[in-house]
Amino acid sequence: MYKAPRGTADILPQEQGYWKYIEEKATALCHLYGYQLLTTPIFEDSQLFARTIAGGTDLVDKEMYIFEDRSGQELALRAEGTAPVCRAYIEHGLFNLPQPVKLYYIGPAFRYERPQAGRYRQHQQFGFEAIGAADPALDAEVIEMTQQFLFSLGLSGFSIQLNSIGCNLCQPKYIEALKRHYSNYIARLCPDCKVRLLRNPLRLLDCKKGPCQQVADTAPKITDYLCPECQAHFQSVQRYLKTLDIPFQLNYRLVRGLDYYTRTVFEVEPQKERAQSALGGGGRYDNLIERLGGKPTPAVGFATGIERLILNLKREKVNVPSLPKPVAFIAYLGDEAKIEAVRLASKLRQAGIAVIKATDDKSLKGQMRQANSLGVNYAIIMGEREVKTQSVVLRDMISNAQKTVPLTEIVGVLKQEQKST
Ligand code: HAM
Repeated sequence: MYKAPRGTADILPQEQGYWKYIEEKATALCHLYGYQLLTTPIFEDSQLFARTIAGGTDLVDKEMYIFEDRSGQELALRAEGTAPVCRAYIEHGLFNLPQPVKLYYIGPAFRYERPQAGRYRQHQQFGFEAIGAADPALDAEVIEMTQQFLFSLGLSGFSIQLNSIGCNLCQPKYIEALKRHYSNYIARLCPDCKVRLLRNPLRLLDCKKGPCQQVADTAPKITDYLCPECQAHFQSVQRYLKTLDIPFQLNYRLVRGLDYYTRTVFEVEPQKERAQSALGGGGRYDNLIERLGGKPTPAVGFATGIERLILNLKREKVNVPSLPKPVAFIAYLGDEAKIEAVRLASKLRQAGIAVIKATDDKSLKGQMRQANSLGVNYAIIMGEREVKTQSVVLRDMISNAQKTVPLTEIVGVLKQEQKST
């Protein structure tokens, strides 16, 4: 027996309503804020991710799906959406357009993680990126957009965590201070943090293990090390957020799992959840485009995982609209009626009325059972008598009331019924 690979999931029809709901809200939001859809390939040159997300992060060191194609080129399944968007921005000369260029995407991302609730090896990311502006008001707008998106879905149980991790000038000084602090406690650190101390000290602040958290509690704060420009930017972002009445919590330990961020970083935490399951995250990445060979170009963005949004919609008991279902089920008895049923199904569909026609010459009882389980509003029943009189029996599946309708009138009657329901 084959099963879906570990950490992946089939999305069954009964779940699709959530997906459609979220994708429609995402598209409406992006339209409202002036973002345009960009679709990038599912695989890229593996170096695109290695250079931008950078070594020393779990994502690059342990989680990428890397493979060689038949020509020997090393490719990686898309691990996240920001680096591909930046690659496309450079490749297609989008820097020639008025800046910032605002782009959004919805598509799968692949990470070889240990699967658990809300953490999969394939997940669907919705993200948006504003490329080509350094204005702190844009950081605030991206955070506002995040908040408005979650509100538009009907979610309210979340908080926005905010931090600044500085720039190329001030961050190295902070990292030195952090290393000095942690060097005093090496024996207490978990094996992962011992490696982080050497390879990616900022990530030390993110460790969830008790003894490491105690060391983090007394660690120096990045905000005490920001250069005047980063400090001013951070203050400005906060001022704009206050102007917009967006509540946020300063979180000096928030560093994010990817290495391309500068200045503003933020995450959305569900209120009742374990720390590992951020609903979404983002921030500024002013050096990323340059790292990819473009001109220095400031940018800011956000991404969220659709599966985690669905978990939270269910947790917060948000009802989503159900998907449209067929209006009627066509049942038949006898060979002559079957031919009429085939003809009628085609005629109704051409008139834009969604129907399902019985197959395999089942008993009328079996056909009605099927109509019930499909949840249709009407059954159209055709037998020998209806063939002779060129009519159908139209049964209302909710009230069980039946009436005979001439074949020539059934399209009009169903259209009328459709309007009134
Ligand atoms: P990220 O925090 O790595 O950021 O991922 C964004 C969101 O994707 C997470 O907050 C989470 O909702 C979802 N996610 C990540 N990994 C998984 C997983 N294994 N299973 C389920 N959901 C997951 C980024 O990817 C950045 N590109 C965000 C960004 C955009 N920054 C600036 N612009």
